[in-house]
Amino acid sequence: MARIEWTEELSVGVPELDAQHQRWINMINELHDTLLHGDADDLVEITGRMLRNMAEYVDEHFQAEEAYMERVGFVGLEEHRRIHQRFSERVRRYLEEHESGVTLLNTTLMKELENWLTEHIARQDKQYAPQPQ
Ligand SMILES: [Fe+2]
Ligand SMILES: [Fe+2]
Repeated sequence: MARIEWTEELSVGVPELDAQHQRWINMINELHDTLLHGDADDLVEITGRMLRNMAEYVDEHFQAEEAYMERVGFVGLEEHRRIHQRFSERVRRYLEEHESGVTLLNTTLMKELENWLTEHIARQDKQYAPQPQ
């Protein structure tokens, strides 16, 4: 599976939020590299740490994004908030499963993280963009 690349096509026209999306993509790519090439002994611990960091960062980003949407009076805020909430719960569930010793299927996990983020930016985040991107 390839790493994700941030391109202008994923820009939402708000530099602060673009930077956050880039950072999140970097986190997914790092997890991707670790799962592919990481040392098997440390893999469980490192994966756990990365998932924990990501779960935290996801919430931080969602808060910043929701604050932005509130500031500009975006009409789809409530629906968008619910989508964030659902995803946040999913990441947390992965983390809990991982911590309770369930072996996550790397390809499934990565595909889900990657697809969710890029599709969410392209379909939902772009709707709050200041002008059509
Ligand atoms: Fe969003
Ligand atoms: Fe976003």
